[in-house]
Amino acid sequence: MAGVTHSIRFKDRRAYRGSVLRLEIIRACKDDLPEILILQRLAFYRVGLRYNDPDTPPLPQTLDELVEESDGQVFLKAVQDGKIIGAIRGKDNGNSCRISKVMVHPDHQDRGIGRKLVNAIEKEFNVPMFDLRTGHLDEVTISLYKKLGYVLTGEKEQITETLWFVRMKKEMPGRGGK
Ligand SMILES: CC(C)(COP(=O)(O)OP(=O)(O)OC[C@H]1O[C@@H](n2cnc3c(N)ncnc32)[C@H](O)[C@@H]1OP(=O)(O)O)[C@@H](O)C(=O)NCCC(=O)NCCS
Repeated sequence: MAGVTHSIRFKDRRAYRGSVLRLEIIRACKDDLPEILILQRLAFYRVGLRYNDPDTPPLPQTLDELVEESDGQVFLKAVQDGKIIGAIRGKDNGNSCRISKVMVHPDHQDRGIGRKLVNAIEKEFNVPMFDLRTGHLDEVTISLYKKLGYVLTGEKEQITETLWFVRMKKEMPGRGGK
């Protein structure tokens, strides 16, 4: 998992209005997984509260499970001042890419980083369609993906007593596939 660097310099719109943030979005490697797991628990903490369930996925995920899951996936990390403050992953499924677990550290949310992560993962895969699943009550996530051109497919799957996953997808006409 080595390689491509997206160097991003952007103006934050709200919390640090007027300041310029230096953020790097680059591929993560296996050594980053412990830090990404901690970030995942922080970022999804509020998701657990939203569904009133401490076992809301991916909160209970262990490091071993994350390492196993990382095989065949591209992980990107957003790094600021040497710390991972965001991450996203994508998996090539042939003619499509499944995006999963976009996350931004709670102290850095609503500054445009989630959007940058989705843009960056879309550049990693030359496929005609991207899709993802997210919780039915995750309004910020659904709104973020809608703004980036994703549409709800209408498919729903019950995951826990309180959580349903809804599916979203985005067609990329003109892009390759296998
Ligand atoms: C979903 C998540 C990754 C978004 O990251 P982010 O860096 O905060 O998102 P951005 O700042 O790029 O915002 C993108 C859009 O989301 C919306 N948004 C972000 N934070 C918001 C907030 N606190 N309230 C309302 N809308 C918000 C806005 O519509 C924004 O659009 P805009 O740029 O036109 O204003 C982040 O909230 C997160 O880590 N959540 C917990 C983990 C999670 O639920 N992941 C998704 C499940 S797969």
